[in-house]
Amino acid sequence: MTTITKTLTTSPKALPPSNQLGFGQHFSDHMFVAKFTEGKGWSEAAIVPYGPLSLDPGASVFHYGQALFEGMKVFRQQDGKVVFFRPEFNQRRMADGAARLCLEAPPLELFMDALQELVAVDERWIPEGPNTSLYIRPTLIGSEPFLGVRPSRETIFFILLSPVGSYYSEGTKPIKIWAEEKYLRAAPGGLGAVKAGANYASSLKAALDAKKQGYSQVLWLDVEHQGIEEVGTMNVFFVFDNEIVTPALNGSILPGGTRDAILELLRSKGLPVVERRITITEVIERLGRGELKEVFGTGTAAVISPVGVLHYRGKDWIINNNENGPLSNELYSEITAIQRGTQPDKLNWLVPLKK
Ligand SMILES: Cc1ncc(COP(=O)(O)O)c(C=O)c1O
Repeated sequence: MTTITKTLTTSPKALPPSNQLGFGQHFSDHMFVAKFTEGKGWSEAAIVPYGPLSLDPGASVFHYGQALFEGMKVFRQQDGKVVFFRPEFNQRRMADGAARLCLEAPPLELFMDALQELVAVDERWIPEGPNTSLYIRPTLIGSEPFLGVRPSRETIFFILLSPVGSYYSEGTKPIKIWAEEKYLRAAPGGLGAVKAGANYASSLKAALDAKKQGYSQVLWLDVEHQGIEEVGTMNVFFVFDNEIVTPALNGSILPGGTRDAILELLRSKGLPVVERRITITEVIERLGRGELKEVFGTGTAAVISPVGVLHYRGKDWIINNNENGPLSNELYSEITAIQRGTQPDKLNWLVPLKK
């Protein structure tokens, strides 16, 4: 058991109304912070009032971008029970990412104890109501001040909590996506497979340009502008008449937790799902032949997000009459019912808040 000191706020904030949360616009009263120093290990684990961090302006995060984060959720179920969704997946992914970015990863025990204690302190921030949850943002940054280019010998691990509603302004309606041929999110050997802040910096310009054209997400292609990688901040699934395809993890795709859960769920239903390379040319050809029934993105924030319009080389392709498809609906209902506790957790995805 990690020793975590607690300093509670003397001025708790008013809770935002649960039907007007949006995504990531509010932060809870407290945050978790701990520090790793080479030769000393983890220390100073603390829950403190939410507020600014004090960092030396020479810290490596500001100069060389040593920053990595996670995104996960904790839910208040119908009977009041509080559950985390697959938190160990996020700890593992953070550890993999930390190794790639030369940061120190919090061990499983520290990660889980920090989550349990922080959420217990800010439990009143877990919203009630449809499509709501408390989003958790564990983050690692290199905090050692120096200007030589080398890994930081000091890592700060912090966790923020944000009550959230629906990710998209469209709610759960189909989204319009733009197949991007100019900018890349990631490349082989780069950082695409880890949740490095740098990947998001790299994605902003394409996302902004797509928005200006009326598309809410970018369909990311590989370096050859052929292989499909992801859609915006989601993994992507294509439902054909004879198979369900998601791009195989090739080193530049983020291994999504929701992707992993959907694969498990589809396989448990005996549906023909495959992880393989899939190109934009194949998608457009099969769309033209009427073989593509549904496309959807998967991610913690939106869970399942059906795609209604795909823009490629000057043309808008309509998918499933720009409506939510039956498989997207079924998967969305099933996952959210498990999270809400209205369906049994048959795949063992949930971890209860201990209190
Ligand atoms: C680039 C990217 N791909 C995929 C995902 C989906 O991952 P997860 O299902 O773990 O949220 C995310 C995160 O939300 C992401 O930022």
